[in-house]
Amino acid sequence: MASKTYDAIVIGGGPGGYVCAIRLGQLKQKVLCVEKEEVGGVCLNWGCVPSKAIIATSHTFDKVKTGPAYGLLVDNPRIDANKLQDWKDGIVKKLTGGVRGLFHGNHVDLVYGEARMTGVQTVSVKTREGTVETFEATKGVVIATGSSTIEIPSFKFDGKRIIGAKEAVSLREIPRRLLVIGGGIIGMELGGAYQRLGSEVTVVEALPNILTGVDSDLASVVEKMFTKHGGKIFKAAKALGYEPQKDGSLAVRLDIGGKSDTVVTDVVLVAVGMRPNGAGVGLEELGVKVERGFIPTDAAGRTNVAGIYAIGDCSSVPMLAHKASKEGEVVAEVIAGHKAAKDWVGIPSAIFTDPEIATVGLGEQLAKEKGMDIRIGKFPFSALGRAMAVNETDGFIKVVSDKNTHEILGVHIVGPEATDLISEGTLALEMHAFLEDVGLTMHPHPTLGEGMMEASLNGLGQAIHILNRQV
Ligand code: NAI
Repeated sequence: MASKTYDAIVIGGGPGGYVCAIRLGQLKQKVLCVEKEEVGGVCLNWGCVPSKAIIATSHTFDKVKTGPAYGLLVDNPRIDANKLQDWKDGIVKKLTGGVRGLFHGNHVDLVYGEARMTGVQTVSVKTREGTVETFEATKGVVIATGSSTIEIPSFKFDGKRIIGAKEAVSLREIPRRLLVIGGGIIGMELGGAYQRLGSEVTVVEALPNILTGVDSDLASVVEKMFTKHGGKIFKAAKALGYEPQKDGSLAVRLDIGGKSDTVVTDVVLVAVGMRPNGAGVGLEELGVKVERGFIPTDAAGRTNVAGIYAIGDCSSVPMLAHKASKEGEVVAEVIAGHKAAKDWVGIPSAIFTDPEIATVGLGEQLAKEKGMDIRIGKFPFSALGRAMAVNETDGFIKVVSDKNTHEILGVHIVGPEATDLISEGTLALEMHAFLEDVGLTMHPHPTLGEGMMEASLNGLGQAIHILNRQV
């Protein structure tokens, strides 16, 4: 017997689940959210937000250290890792408290515990308090269980010296030496942050390039910056295992393109990807399709079993918080009986490396591989007054458009505030804008956003502040 009946039950309170639950509440649906750890999920508690707090502090520290070049003199700047953690924990507390407040205001019930589906409409929860409760959902159950860090057998996490991203945002001591396994998003974001905070950082990447999935001309700007600051990157390399040393350090054995090497480090950060948490919630027993941990859905977020929906990392890639949230909104609308679908044109990505990378839509490399007729508009930050004034001139903005119609198909940025600038590119894609739309729009001076206007104009051979190629 179900102890309580709801219109909808959302399993998982991350950026997919909590947004879905709030939207359901706004749509006057009776809703329960079940969360096994803390609302906000990985993103608010151990991922996106905490890492950005640490990354932001690392940038400020770097600016202070390099201050004499532009007349900023500070004696003996230092990092207090404890204070940094306390400040970051405060932000997390504020945000998760905010989510609970929004649940309360939107009449969303919250139960802490581990949920399992025992019927198409029933969810059994082993609560934090140790009781087992059963709930019923008359209109829909939404699976929003996210993803988990992948572990390498020869580098089992011990929480102290062999760590994942979760521990890496909670360090109360800056490691003197840090070895990062995986030169992907987490590896380059956190590796870069600890480099600026003073660690000697080595990155070991299995593939021939770091930041796979990002065009190589963008990734190479980050790579150059990282190595310029003393970081080492071993590409096409594998970390095989490690031997603890008497002084507490770890000697990590590497295979670098067939040659053996050893790097001595204090901490190893393993950042080799995430796997979806679609299995283990009781779905397979109900006939719901789960493929390699992912729960496939249609454009409305419906699984192959009526009344069961899936959103976010457990459903599909890219594993990004903002995609999960948008999917949560769509599914809430569908459960409430409205017409809604995942019909966006582009999913932006925002990578907080130094400099930042942000992309949306078609990349130049993929367009060329597909043999598409495109035109490229490009503008370097080194030609922008505002970029000079903030002393961040590395990188560029690239606008990919249809050669004949000039419709913007993709925007790829590496440089200062790329992660904020990309929203204009995303809007351009959603509005099916042309190069002329962005190029003719007045952008305020002096701002980094002028680069979007100039890159679009460059696609037309009309940029003002650089020489244009003939188009
Ligand atoms: P990732 O997939 O971005 O990068 C993992 C890297 O590890 C890849 O380059 C891969 O080739 C490499 N690798 C795999 N096995 C290896 C091995 N044994 N030795 C050496 N290298 C190895 O995964 P990451 O960085 O762990 O991030 C996970 C996911 O979390 C991202 O893909 C993204 O979806 C999400 N994320 C997004 C962020 C953002 O958008 N700013 C920030 C952090 C995470």
